[in-house]
Amino acid sequence: MTNRSLLILPGDGIGPEVMAEVRKVIDWFGTRGIAFDVSEDLVGGCAYDAHGTPLTDATMARAQEVDAVLLGAVGGPKYDVLDFSVKPERGLLRLRKEMDLYANLRPAQCFDALADFSSLKKDVVAGLDIMIIRELTSGVYFGEPRGIIKEGNERVGINTQRYTESEIARVARSAFELARKRGNKVCSMEKANVMESGVLWRDVVQEIHDAEYPDVELSHMYADAGAMQLTRWPKQFDVIVTDNLFGDLLSDLAAMLTGSLGMLPSASLGAPMANGRPKALYEPVHGSAPDIAGKSLANPIACILSFAMALRYSFDLGAEAERVETAVNAVLADGLRTADLMGPEGGTPVSTSAMGDAIVAKLAASV
Ligand code: NAD
Ligand code: IPM
Ligand code: MN
Repeated sequence: MTNRSLLILPGDGIGPEVMAEVRKVIDWFGTRGIAFDVSEDLVGGCAYDAHGTPLTDATMARAQEVDAVLLGAVGGPKYDVLDFSVKPERGLLRLRKEMDLYANLRPAQCFDALADFSSLKKDVVAGLDIMIIRELTSGVYFGEPRGIIKEGNERVGINTQRYTESEIARVARSAFELARKRGNKVCSMEKANVMESGVLWRDVVQEIHDAEYPDVELSHMYADAGAMQLTRWPKQFDVIVTDNLFGDLLSDLAAMLTGSLGMLPSASLGAPMANGRPKALYEPVHGSAPDIAGKSLANPIACILSFAMALRYSFDLGAEAERVETAVNAVLADGLRTADLMGPEGGTPVSTSAMGDAIVAKLAASV
């Protein structure tokens, strides 16, 4: 038993496949004297199959107790017919909401070996290192009223974009704090030209800046223009802070700057716990990829890099996190590619498990 507790929720589709590779990395650290007290449980469609709910109260309670949760992915076509309240995605949203994980860090880094692979020109993405901070517990994902109602003879679908000042202020602080440790620049994105919630967002971010972080360079951009700028010249950005829905879209877009959605990790952080570390859930940005599930084609790097983020943000093991990132870089530099990283010129992709094995071999070679 160690004092580093980790709850692993592999989930659905490629979730268990990529998580099996993370387990190899965790086991390797165990052999080096850095052990984790790992427990595993169900979330998403597999939890619905077993218990009739995408997240049981017991799993929710366990997630609240541990130092960190690591999640694979949830969802799949099999569950599309389910009532909205028990869809796999509701399990993930409940974890985020009840753990109050308001700051979702989605770094988009272009590894040197992949600079040629992006759909954008090499000089646009080479050396790219940006951090999107997505507000994760509010906005249109959770606002009330919501639902599908009947108005006369028609159905009306309703969702509500809603942000309180304090919700905006706390995620803005996360962005400014992080910027100070990086390039000291924050760009805030909303649509203040059409949405009142966007006007409030812009005002509050500016107020927090002026009162507490005047040393950080702050700019504001409409989110649609931000999407354009992200593909035009992404290296102009350091930290981007934005709302729940815009952050969802912009981070998938940013994924392609790095070469593949299979490369992007994330950390969802909340308020500090008694031990001073934030409440946290780590997960790849990608989903359950039903089109490739069960075929050993999935890229495990996003999930492995999510574990690296856990090492850094939940366990104070920054050097070990860097060691994992260096191993990933080295494997890519050797030319190893899963199928998603194959260019039009083709080549022979390696399997999910061969990629995991290669990363562990690089870790072992690094000591
Ligand atoms: P997706 O991210 O699952 O897949 C989009 C495309 O990217 C697919 O072609 C897929 O094969 C590819 N891809 C994704 N991850 C990959 C990886 N690691 N390696 C190689 N290729 C990869 O998105 P989708 O198809 O829109 O959604 C599928 C399901 O996943 C839905 O049920 C959705 O709700 C769910 N989803 C879950 C999460 C999550 O659990 N955090 C995130 C996004 C989507
Ligand atoms: C993500 C996903 C989720 C979201 C879904 C699965 C609930 O797309 O984590 O990016 O929309 O937040
Ligand atoms: Mn998404």
